[in-house]
Amino acid sequence: MSCSKCQNSAVIALQHGGLCKNHFIDYFEEKVFKTINKYQLIGRNEKLCVAVSGGKDSLTVLYLTKKYLEKNNLPTNNLIALAVDEGIDNYREKTLVDLKKFCQEHAVPLTIVSFEQELGKTLDKAYPIINKDTNKRPCNVCGVWRRYLLNKHAKKLGADKVITGHNLDDEAQAIIMNMFKANTKLAGRLGPISGLEEHDLFVQRVKPLYFCAEKEVRLYALLQKFQIEFTECPYSKEGYRHHIQEMLNDFEQKYKGTKQGIVNSFLTMLPLLKDQENQTAETKIRSCSKCQEASNKDICNACVMKETIQNA
Ligand code: FES
Ligand code: ZN
Ligand code: ZN
Repeated sequence: MSCSKCQNSAVIALQHGGLCKNHFIDYFEEKVFKTINKYQLIGRNEKLCVAVSGGKDSLTVLYLTKKYLEKNNLPTNNLIALAVDEGIDNYREKTLVDLKKFCQEHAVPLTIVSFEQELGKTLDKAYPIINKDTNKRPCNVCGVWRRYLLNKHAKKLGADKVITGHNLDDEAQAIIMNMFKANTKLAGRLGPISGLEEHDLFVQRVKPLYFCAEKEVRLYALLQKFQIEFTECPYSKEGYRHHIQEMLNDFEQKYKGTKQGIVNSFLTMLPLLKDQENQTAETKIRSCSKCQEASNKDICNACVMKETIQNA
């Protein structure tokens, strides 16, 4: 197949035809920059904290955020990176090596915080204790603690926004998961700008890769020769999300555009979901009585988990 814009051979087949290396890179970057502009994900003079792991998504979003700032003559010294080391043996330590190198090469200051320091144990050791009676996968502990530490430390670092590498596949999975589990409340928190309301305790999270399919991000990172391992979290092979992922991949293969369709229809419903959610008093964010971080209950989930560990 050849590129639909020139005669070179295509590196990817998209819905509207193939693209060669250079035209794909242009297309991808333009899509990300358009998303930033359309949803106003980045404001002038804002301090931007990119949540990074060392994987393809986070490094791509870090790289492109910097490129966006340069292109628009915005100050790049407002850009910082924040990583959470969950403590997943044989996995995270490798991606952190790639990450440190990348941040150094691109002159972005990096802060790393860890579950071990803050929760008292690594994820590997914490989840069997916390999930002892429920048999749940590590992901529930990981999700709560990652979000918690990102928000807490982004605030400490003075960030106005947290930028994440969530892509179209992540979002489509989350939408379907919430739908299947009747979590309509959580659904209102999705979208290119996460979170429900502007709040002092909460740094808004934004997703410039919102409309980029996982395979596009992968290809972009490969073509840019980012020095990273394309491995996934060893826990990701199990659990509910993984089944949703397989189902959506299967559907996408048979019916091109499925994931995009899910996200597009979700976006038309999002204003309604947000309204509904903002009106529900019980979801009002308050501060946790233990740690003073954002919570929708008296004691936040992270503190409940920490207490479980301490009492074990
Ligand atoms: Fe769930 Fe990593 S802990 S995928
Ligand atoms: Zn071309
Ligand atoms: Zn707390």
